[in-house]
Amino acid sequence: MPAEARGREPLHLTLPPGTHPAGGNARGGDATVKPAPGAARRAAQANEDKTMSANLKYLSLGILVFQTTSLVLTMRYSRTLKEEGPRYLSSTAVVVAELLKIMACILLVYKDSKCSLRALNRILHDEILNKPMETLKLAIPSGIYTLQNNLLYVALSNLDAATYQVTYQLKILTTALFSVSMLSKKLGVYQWLSLVILMTGVAFVQWPSDSQELDSKELSAGSQFVGLMAVLTACFSSGFAGVYFEKILKETKQSVWIRNIQLGFFGSIFGLMGVYIYDGELVSKNGFFQGYNRLTWIVVILQALGGLVIAAVIKYADNILKGFATSLSIILSTLISYFWLQDFVPTSYPLFLENDFNCSLRFPSWLEYSWEIALIVEDAW
Ligand code: C5P
Repeated sequence: MPAEARGREPLHLTLPPGTHPAGGNARGGDATVKPAPGAARRAAQANEDKTMSANLKYLSLGILVFQTTSLVLTMRYSRTLKEEGPRYLSSTAVVVAELLKIMACILLVYKDSKCSLRALNRILHDEILNKPMETLKLAIPSGIYTLQNNLLYVALSNLDAATYQVTYQLKILTTALFSVSMLSKKLGVYQWLSLVILMTGVAFVQWPSDSQELDSKELSAGSQFVGLMAVLTACFSSGFAGVYFEKILKETKQSVWIRNIQLGFFGSIFGLMGVYIYDGELVSKNGFFQGYNRLTWIVVILQALGGLVIAAVIKYADNILKGFATSLSIILSTLISYFWLQDFVPTSYPLFLENDFNCSLRFPSWLEYSWEIALIVEDAW
């Protein structure tokens, strides 16, 4: 623990209740008072945990920005690559990503249990199989995420990609609303205002280019309405599922990796149902892994990594900061696309990459104005 952190420890924390140092002032006036060793150790441990949590918070947010940005770019590259044969099925990619996520979480629990297979087995039994009610709690966010994936699919089929992305930014506000109502978070006027500015700003960075506006005119008003309703519902489900997961993580004792295994378990079941419903025939004809190539595997691994990092961000930071990180990665991937790939108007997405992963560029001045947004947000938080 850093020396300055130790030095900041308030005296009253180090005194066990009802204990007064011999000859000392009961109000702690004696600066030479020595804390009881047990209490001092506990306070030092608490301080160390706090520093560690702060480090993990920024580390997980940084990795989320990296992961989201790489996923956007890899996905964009994979979409522009011409390949022979059938394209991979996004429904199977969802399942593979969930399974990879579960395997990674099991490895992390194994590491936490000092690399003992027996301990791992006991933890999985005690925490997952023997606590069916706790495990069942995760069926709710998992089911909502599955519904959300499907809603976003409906949205993408009825709206052009850019309108979809712009509208989906509303989830920044719904997440804040659920954080306030379900977790009793307090947000000041400036913080609300900064969220509105962030939402509007990110939406503007992705505002449809002229060619995309033309595309959207080809969609009927009725179909646009269906798409809009789907994406608006997804905004609420995203906010609710994220905050519900945060509530479970922060209000119960189970580790974030155990919680992720439970989430992934239900995610795989719902995902397999999706494979059966949407692509059952294609899978029985061409196989589960049809169209998979090296790039598909990279995208799937990045997606699984995303699940791990999102869980860590929700645990060590919160859903609102997660929104900041994904907004930052939208700006970052736009920046890389603009200067490096010079290609930033993809028009369709695999279902499982439905999130914040598209950005089309309209004004070169967006960079300057993203910077303004960052400054406003930084001031408010
Ligand atoms: O758009 P939104 O931020 O709500 O998307 C969250 C995505 O992250 C969902 O697709 C969900 O399946 C995924 N997720 C995950 N593991 C978690 C939490 C969310 O894979 N622990």
